[in-house]
Amino acid sequence: MATFIVLLGPPGVGKGTQAKILAETTKLAHVSSGDLFRENLKNQTELGKLAKSFMDKGELVPDDVTISMIRERISRPDCEAGAILDGFPRTPTQADALEKMLAEFASEVNAVPYITADESVLVERTGGRWTCREHGHIYHEKFSPPQKTGVCDFDGSELYQRDDDKVETVTKRIRVYLEQTMPLVEYYRKCGKLLEIDGAQPVEQVTRVLLSALNK
Ligand code: AP5
Ligand code: MG
Repeated sequence: MATFIVLLGPPGVGKGTQAKILAETTKLAHVSSGDLFRENLKNQTELGKLAKSFMDKGELVPDDVTISMIRERISRPDCEAGAILDGFPRTPTQADALEKMLAEFASEVNAVPYITADESVLVERTGGRWTCREHGHIYHEKFSPPQKTGVCDFDGSELYQRDDDKVETVTKRIRVYLEQTMPLVEYYRKCGKLLEIDGAQPVEQVTRVLLSALNK
C-alpha cells in the first residue's frame, strides 16, 4: 500500500523545508499545493491567475479548484508509492475529498505530523524567507542563507521573496489558518494519526524529532 503523509502547521512553520528533507529520505514525492499554484502562476495559466487573486490577499483558493489540482497531481506515476502532502488538505472539505481520492487508490492518510511554533517565530521566518525561482528551494537570510546572496545553491537560479510574505499578509494567513485549518488538527487527532512536533527548534532538530515520530 502507498504511504501518504500530511504535513499540518501554520504559515512559515517549516512544512516545505521538512517536506523536502522527508521526500529525500523516504523517496516519496513532495506535493505542495502552494508550490503548484506558484508554478501555475509562473506559467501564466488561468489557474495561476485565479490562485494569485486569493494568495495575494492571504485567503485560501476555493476548494473545488484546489482539490482537482491535487487529484491530477497525485494520479501521476511518481506518486504511486505515496507522497508527502505539504499544505493540502487545509479545510474539512479538502480532507474529505482526500480520503475519497486515496480510497480509489486503496490507500489512506498514514500519519499527520503537526508542526507548531509561536506567531513571532512564524513572522520572523516568513519575513526572512528567500525562495528559488526554478525549483522552490527554501532559504532564510539568517537561519539558512545561500552560499551566494540571491542565488540558489542547487540550481543557480534567482532567489525571490514571496508576495504573500509581507507582514500584513502573513498575519491574515495565520488568521485564515486558525479559522479554516485548525479543525483538521482535532479531526486527525481523533483518528489517532496526529504527531505533534515542536517546530521552534533548528531545522535539523525538527527533522530528528519528525523522523523518530514517524518511525514509531
Ligand atoms: P503555502 O505555500 O502552502 O504557504 P503556507 O502554508 O502559508 O506555508 P509557507 O509555505 O508559508 O510556510 P512553510 O510552513 O512551508 O515554511 P518554510 O519551510 O517555507 O500557501 C500559500 C497560499 O497558497 C495560501 O495562502 C493559499 O492562498 C494558497 N493555498 C495553498 N494551499 C492551499 C490549499 N490546500 N487550499 C487553498 N488554498 C491554498 O519555512 C519558512 C521559512 O523559515 C524559510 O525561510 C525557512 O528557511 C525557515 N525555516 C524553516 N524551518 C526552520 C527552522 N526549524 N528554524 C529556522 N528557520 C526555519
Ligand atoms: Mg511552504
